[in-house]
Amino acid sequence: MAQLVGLIVSEDEAFKKHIERLLRSGAIPVSVIDDRLPREGTPPDLVIVDTRGDASSAMSNIERLRARAQGAGIFAVALTTDPDLILQSMRAGANEFFTWPPAEEAFHGAVRRTAGRRETTQGAGPVATTLVFFGAKGGAGTTTVSVNCGVELSRLSKRSIVIVDLKPGLGEVALFLGVRPRYSLLDAIDNLHRLDREFLRELVIKHKSGLEILAGSDQFDRPGAADGGAIEELFRLLARQYEYILVDAGSQINSCTVAALYTADTMFLVANPDVPSVRNAQRLLDRVRQLGACGERVRVLLNRAAEPYPIPPKQIEGALGHPIHHTFPSDYKTVSAALNSGVPLALTGNSDIAAQFDRFTRRILDPTAEAPSAQPARRVRPALERLASLW
Ligand SMILES: Nc1ncnc2c1ncn2[C@@H]1O[C@H](COP(=O)(O)OP(=O)(O)O)[C@@H](O)[C@H]1O
Ligand SMILES: [Mg+2]
Repeated sequence: MAQLVGLIVSEDEAFKKHIERLLRSGAIPVSVIDDRLPREGTPPDLVIVDTRGDASSAMSNIERLRARAQGAGIFAVALTTDPDLILQSMRAGANEFFTWPPAEEAFHGAVRRTAGRRETTQGAGPVATTLVFFGAKGGAGTTTVSVNCGVELSRLSKRSIVIVDLKPGLGEVALFLGVRPRYSLLDAIDNLHRLDREFLRELVIKHKSGLEILAGSDQFDRPGAADGGAIEELFRLLARQYEYILVDAGSQINSCTVAALYTADTMFLVANPDVPSVRNAQRLLDRVRQLGACGERVRVLLNRAAEPYPIPPKQIEGALGHPIHHTFPSDYKTVSAALNSGVPLALTGNSDIAAQFDRFTRRILDPTAEAPSAQPARRVRPALERLASLW
């Protein structure tokens, strides 16, 4: 699905906050750009103009924006349904008209119409799908799952795919893939002004499966709190060059991982069937809801699943309020052999875990594909009681 670039034009911070939250909470990912920053490269797909104050300056804003972004959906927001103002807004170039505060359903409907229009008019260019992998805790297998999914996706689809290692301080994506990068994500975000197709080609390193890698930082404190805006811009640029963007987001919520979550078409939350994973996963899901990111995009992945389950899968689903989308078995020998040789599972031959990556990836390519049968649930009381006492 396409990610839209949204621009909010208003002097009122409360208006900006409210609209940004609305944009972030819909089923279609929208990244919000700031009008104060000079931007030649990224014309918005969606512009929301506050017409509640000085109507004539709002109308000239709409005209100016219409000239700059011809295919954009422009939404005018007014205090009342004044027929004169509606007419003026439409003449200036607005596509939709809302009274403040906009009704959520109607607003999301207008965003969907804009996305649909954009897909028909820009059908030729790549329309990136962004998949963000987030760990319920360190060691849950986020890097293992994202890297193997990337290789499998590349092998099965032959599409242009990049994996971005967002972890601050020595990410492991390149290591897992057995490649030695010369550049990292920091080179990209520190040179955004000249980050075009050619420059990007220099920064990424290609794996033999065809998967391209934007390697992790080599500085312990970066990407940090100050880099969130640059990371969001980086994703917008990558979306124009790749068909799939995979992100290893680690397991810490910070401004950079939030930028990735906002951009995501799907957020895969990687958890193990144990007490810390489930407790942290529930907290993370609460945080995602607080941030206003759409919960419909979350998919729970259960990694290192082995009988007997410390917590039965049904119980995990109940605690998280989300079904388990896919389960990967525990197979330390196969996973660590692949890791130590730098050859991902998808390329190592027959094993149940490699077969699960194949099925998982086929479901990404074709979401209507059949879901795997659920793992048998076995009840183990002590772990459940411990879990209950933690809430
Ligand atoms: N399904 C699995 N079965 C057994 N071991 C696994 C599995 N997935 C990951 N591991 C192992 O767990 C460790 C942590 O995995 P990693 O992907 O680095 O986690 P994270 O990125 O969440 O910190 C690694 O040693 C890896 O080999
Ligand atoms: Mg990792």
